[in-house]
Amino acid sequence: MEITLSLLTVWLAMANGIFEPSSPPAPLKYAPIVMWHGMGDSCCNPFSLGHFSKFLEEQLPSVYVKSLQIGDNIVQDTENGFFMNVNDQVSIACSLIASDSQLVHGYNAIGFSQGGLFLRAVAQRCPNPPMLNLISVGGPHQGVYGLPHCLYPSHHMCDYVRRVLNVGAYWSWIQDRFVQAEYWHDPLNEEEYKEGSVFLADINNEKNKNNTYRENLLRLHKLVLIKFENDTMVLPKESEWFGFYAPGQGKVVLPLQETELYLEDRLGLKTLYEGNRLDLLSAPGDHLRFTKEWFIQNIIHKYLN
Ligand SMILES: *[C@@H]1O[C@H](CO)[C@@H](O)[C@H](O)[C@H]1NC(C)=O
Ligand SMILES: *[C@@H]1O[C@H](CO)[C@@H](O)[C@H](O)[C@H]1NC(C)=O
Repeated sequence: MEITLSLLTVWLAMANGIFEPSSPPAPLKYAPIVMWHGMGDSCCNPFSLGHFSKFLEEQLPSVYVKSLQIGDNIVQDTENGFFMNVNDQVSIACSLIASDSQLVHGYNAIGFSQGGLFLRAVAQRCPNPPMLNLISVGGPHQGVYGLPHCLYPSHHMCDYVRRVLNVGAYWSWIQDRFVQAEYWHDPLNEEEYKEGSVFLADINNEKNKNNTYRENLLRLHKLVLIKFENDTMVLPKESEWFGFYAPGQGKVVLPLQETELYLEDRLGLKTLYEGNRLDLLSAPGDHLRFTKEWFIQNIIHKYLN
């Protein structure tokens, strides 16, 4: 049986027996929450982020939750997760956030899978209104080198995307049109990646070192990166903590603290880490398969309350 990992349906099913709603505390004002879905999902799928919004509202009574929809409807939103230039998607996200009067005093952000990476771009490019905490749930911050379990397994889109990426991930027309190409990180061709990647190489300050990106990321209270211990979706899974293959080969993975990005502090990650503002959490299981219980204990109590 194939697995549709981007959808949160799996953990919802798994969590059913475990979860008991805790009685909400006296009314409090919680910071609003902005979410961005993963590949193959949409803002408002009732079995996935739609359900997750309700769960947050139960846990944090009367919290305002905005799940970003890129496009006019959820079909477009899902398709744009494959085929709309990520830089354009980030601009749209920035306007949706800036034009929402409920968010003017700041918000916490939760991004699932590629949505975690895209929300980091929002933090770096669009500091107003301020993002308070960024919770990245399995986001590939150093990109991916392979799409081992393409989502929508029965869908032609996935095979198509994979074949195209194998041919020329950094060709400009492919970069323009394929979301996953824009965070494709080929460790055997680091130079080509830095030259050709229109999104990831830019937000990771690989080409133009844009100090604004660093300053803006340093405005976060906390950057929280969740890695799934048995992730079979993001290759290498250490990318979820900003680790990546050592340049020139595809086997040995350097942890964040040994990467150039960290040592040169090009994005402020070292500063965040040394100031206890970069939290590296690991969750058991495969990509996005956390339970509600895990999320309540590790995220809601610590960062959203
Ligand atoms: C750096 O990033 C900011 C925010 O996105 C942008 O306004 C500015 O033009 C960028 N600077 C350069 C030199 O690319
Ligand atoms: C993770 O993978 C290891 C090694 O394959 C296995 O022993 C372990 O049971 C897995 N854990 C979970 C939570 O799936």
